[in-house]
Amino acid sequence: MASSQMLKDKVVLVTGAGRGIGRDISLLCAQEGAKVVVNDLGGAVDGEGGGSQTPAQQVVDEIVKAGGKASANYDSVAEPAGAEKMVKQAVEVFGRIDGVVNNAGILRDRIFHKMSHMDWTQVIAVHLMGSFYVARAAANYFREQESGAFVHFTSTSGLIGNFGQANYAAAKLGIVGLSKSIALDMQRYNVRSNCVSPFAWSRMIGTIPADTPEQQARLARIQQMSTAKIAPMVAYLLTDAAKEVTGQIFAVRMNEIYLMSQPRPIRSVHRSEGWTPQTIAETAIPAMRASFPKLERSGDVFNWDPI
Ligand SMILES: NC(=O)c1ccc[n+]([C@@H]2O[C@H](COP(=O)([O-])OP(=O)(O)OC[C@H]3O[C@@H](n4cnc5c(N)ncnc54)[C@H](O)[C@@H]3O)[C@@H](O)[C@H]2O)c1
Repeated sequence: MASSQMLKDKVVLVTGAGRGIGRDISLLCAQEGAKVVVNDLGGAVDGEGGGSQTPAQQVVDEIVKAGGKASANYDSVAEPAGAEKMVKQAVEVFGRIDGVVNNAGILRDRIFHKMSHMDWTQVIAVHLMGSFYVARAAANYFREQESGAFVHFTSTSGLIGNFGQANYAAAKLGIVGLSKSIALDMQRYNVRSNCVSPFAWSRMIGTIPADTPEQQARLARIQQMSTAKIAPMVAYLLTDAAKEVTGQIFAVRMNEIYLMSQPRPIRSVHRSEGWTPQTIAETAIPAMRASFPKLERSGDVFNWDPI
């Protein structure tokens, strides 16, 4: 497809960009004219194991081969100093920074009553702390130049629900709060912040159980969704054409783009005398029960095949 060069002269940092969704975001941003810092520490899907420079460097090579500009970075987003270094690298190598895509991630799925402190801490460290560290480092430049765009990755595991992902869901909903807060705090400096909740076949999805026929059918559906389908929405959010778009959550699944709802009051009850536990049981809960959101998982809500 012909490039519209919508990111010409922009410098973009994409974290976790050696594989999966981040890789495709980097390739498309470069194709749209951006200079890209491709960050990836090259670890295993659960964050274990020694890092490898290969994934990030391969993406850089691919961009350069196609005539684009890119620079590889191997720092961890889970370290404040690493986050600062990757942002600084954008400025040192390409002269500025215009966009940050907080995409790096790991998974350590475990049913809640078996989740270890380490499962919790590491997932929070990469997703929530990492998104904060990188965003905070870039905010200094964004404030100074009075422009900038953040795209953070959330998940329907947090927005809706999933089994065995308390750590991941908490981190991903935390990222929604982080994004909204940045959008509010930095609007005065022309800085935007949005979330993308992707559905894509990557190695991360390889951890989805496929033991029962139903689970296998779901897996087959998910495999049709390529990581490249997520990139156009992310690239768009980094362009000046998106200057009115901030504080939003978009889901992207194959050729579908969704605007997701955000919590607002849906029912209220009032009693002039005030409430007791008994009157809450007798009046408040019966009045609100019909509006209770169901205890659903992502797959219960997105329960048709991707289009
Ligand atoms: N694939 C999906 O369907 C899906 C669904 C919901 C959310 N997401 C989110 O999308 C993002 C991308 O996921 P993906 O599916 O492409 O996974 P992926 O595992 O293919 O890619 C993630 C990349 O992040 C890198 N990484 C991990 N820890 C890092 C760290 N500390 N510093 C720098 N890089 C690090 C990994 O090396 C890897 O290359 C993640 O935030 C994920 O939670 C994906």
